[in-house]
Amino acid sequence: MIKTVTTIADLRSEIRTWRQAGETVGLVPTMGALHEGHLALVRQSRAKTMRTAATLFVNPKQFAPHEDLATYPREEADDLAKLEKERVDLLFKPEASEIYPPGHATKVMVEGLGDILEGECRPGFFTGVATVVTKLLVQALPDAAFFGEKDYQQLQVIKRLARDLDIPVRIEGVATVREADGLALSSRNAYLNQEERAIAPALHGTIAQVAENVGRGSGAAEQAEWGLEQLQRAGFAKVDYLTVRDAKTLEEVADASRPARVLAAAWLGKARLIDNVAV
Ligand code: PAJ
Repeated sequence: MIKTVTTIADLRSEIRTWRQAGETVGLVPTMGALHEGHLALVRQSRAKTMRTAATLFVNPKQFAPHEDLATYPREEADDLAKLEKERVDLLFKPEASEIYPPGHATKVMVEGLGDILEGECRPGFFTGVATVVTKLLVQALPDAAFFGEKDYQQLQVIKRLARDLDIPVRIEGVATVREADGLALSSRNAYLNQEERAIAPALHGTIAQVAENVGRGSGAAEQAEWGLEQLQRAGFAKVDYLTVRDAKTLEEVADASRPARVLAAAWLGKARLIDNVAV
């Protein structure tokens, strides 16, 4: 069985033992319902550091009251088996009361970067993410922490907060793992019915086409408009955004004269899908 700890004190004591042996440490934060995307982070950590700790915590502070906290997929036995198979050294699986004891009052807010796109569609989301990730980084103080490009804006927010708060941890991005038809793996794909699942790959197909066109010199605004129409035509009920942004600041760009990223969020039934690709 994979070694599991539930308290910050035990997490720190395990990591201290590794440190005393001169071993480097990687951290892989997750909310569980693990799939190959999460496991790619684990493998990257195992390749780059001597010890890997994963965390499993469905962070209540990043769900709005109307969102899917209660129904978010929980598959703990499977998760443990997968982490064990990947030879993760330690799992930190705290209760909410360990992370947010009574009286907890501090929030981490990344202004600007945390307010746009996902932050605009899901108010409070990035404050919840930034707060819990700051805590996990400070609790474990790994050499490196691994996050997926699947959540590209989240990755940029986390890089920013680590820099701004002088947290001495390398933040590493890992490429998005996809199904054969292009759909990015996500725990929330479980919400898709058969019909929706057939439409879903059009999200990646469309943003990949937009990225290619912008890369070849087409205007970003015109291409974003075209992509939006494509998604609507494919059967997405609602498109929250499809936009071409600066790859680091996520500010709007007119063309591909600096490194850019196409990002989109769209709804199929009760599933909200997000995806992004490099221009
Ligand atoms: P969760 O959605 O469980 O994702 C955990 C990590 O896996 C994130 O870094 C995410 O970007 C990465 N990931 C998810 N799907 C991926 C895919 N298809 N390819 C590559 N990486 C993928 O993101 C969160 O949890 C939370 O916000 C968290 C950072 C744990 C804070 O609570």
